[in-house]
Amino acid sequence: MDKYVINGGKKLFGEVNISGAKNAAVAIIPAVVLCDVPCTLRNLPNIRDVSVILSILESMGAVVTRYDDPSVVTIDPRGITSYKVNNDELVAKMRASYYLLGALLGKFGKADVPPPGGCKFCKRPIDLHIKAFEALGAEYKDIDDRIVLESNGLHGTEINFDPVSVGATINAILAAVKAEGKTIITSAAKEPHIVDLANFLNYMGANIKKAGTDEIKITGVKELKGPAEDSGEEISYTIIPDQIEAGTYMAAVAATGGEITINNVTSQHLRSIMKVITETGAKVTVISDPNKPYETVTVARRGDLRGCKNQVITSPHPGFPTDMQPPITALLAAANSPSTVVEAVWANRFSYVPELRKLGAEIDENKSSLTIHPVPGGLKGGTRKKPVSVRALDLRAGAAMVVAGLAAEGVTEVEDAKYVKRGYEDIVGKLAALGADIRMVTYKEISDDQDE
Ligand code: EPZ
Repeated sequence: MDKYVINGGKKLFGEVNISGAKNAAVAIIPAVVLCDVPCTLRNLPNIRDVSVILSILESMGAVVTRYDDPSVVTIDPRGITSYKVNNDELVAKMRASYYLLGALLGKFGKADVPPPGGCKFCKRPIDLHIKAFEALGAEYKDIDDRIVLESNGLHGTEINFDPVSVGATINAILAAVKAEGKTIITSAAKEPHIVDLANFLNYMGANIKKAGTDEIKITGVKELKGPAEDSGEEISYTIIPDQIEAGTYMAAVAATGGEITINNVTSQHLRSIMKVITETGAKVTVISDPNKPYETVTVARRGDLRGCKNQVITSPHPGFPTDMQPPITALLAAANSPSTVVEAVWANRFSYVPELRKLGAEIDENKSSLTIHPVPGGLKGGTRKKPVSVRALDLRAGAAMVVAGLAAEGVTEVEDAKYVKRGYEDIVGKLAALGADIRMVTYKEISDDQDE
């Protein structure tokens, strides 16, 4: 088992490079199942969820070539000849394994996949995914707890989502991309990773229009072969930067004070996060270089850390992302004036709040909102001999504990680092390079990671 040991209260200075987006990577890798040729993916984050989804594809018959640079892989999907996924244990390790439903259904007209796992911060239904598959012509059966979809070929249709769902939008795109005719998805999710998935599929030969708007239009194609063979172009696609990783480093430096430069970001994806960070008293500057594909953001906090006067309300993109809600709450818990955070995407995503209270945070929890009060003297860890121990209950809850531990004077131990490692590439190395006193301690090996 791994835990982070953080001796907090140290200001952060220096530069950090943001990795590729987890939630784009875990959608685009299953999308390769639909392709008819091998393709190379670049800027993949070196995180557990990516290695798990690659292993699932390998177990299905894909050939995955890895390189010295772990951010690059080549996937040859041509060995995938069955619509059935047998590797229950790997599938249960992550949520995004359910994108294999859309991908296999799109490829074979059938899919048979065990139920997904993933962060269990609250109930995560998949009724909208099933509704989309049924609208495209599939019949859904629950056989021995497996999700089974059958069809005599999919056809274009109209699909409306209520509520807006990232995962269901992605699964609908995957299933519709090779379906006969036109599919229109209304109330579609607009997250940057939806656009990235559509850009990847279009690059491979799909016909997807208006991804990133409420209404996505897909005209089914027969093949996904990438650029014409005689173009001599390598079939290669680069994943977008991770907006939540970037936002987490912004929250970290706003919490500790200092000044950091965050490289490889797309500021457009970060607008709602930068607005909140600015409200806390930090100065955020975007630096764009027309010769570089990505931007740089500097975040500096020299004065007091303030709470947010405006409520922080999560909502689908371009609103404030729910995945930033736990780390932002940790930041606001260290501020010198009160804030209110409203969670409007998930029914319950506050299970980490009692862990923050162990560091002295004063937070009142209502049904879907938190009132965060200033703590005189700030958050407090313990001593080397008697640290305060908190748990990473899931990926973003774990990120919140890291932000709080960095802000708190004294020593904080964050148990269950495995959850954080699912989504943050080398968080210890990146924070240590910024001057944080953080290390990972592996203290016992137990193979009980079933619920990841
Ligand atoms: C994606 O989850 C992300 N995961 C989540 O990030 C993120 O919190 C979420 O989108 C919202 O932004 C991945 O991309 C792998 P949803 P997803 O379907 O697709 C309801 C992280 O930490 N709903 O957009 O599962 C649902 O209950 C993870 O990186 C239904 O009612 O989320 C929720 O209230 C955690 N029926 C709302 O929609 C359904 O069939 C939005 O969920 C599906 C969803």
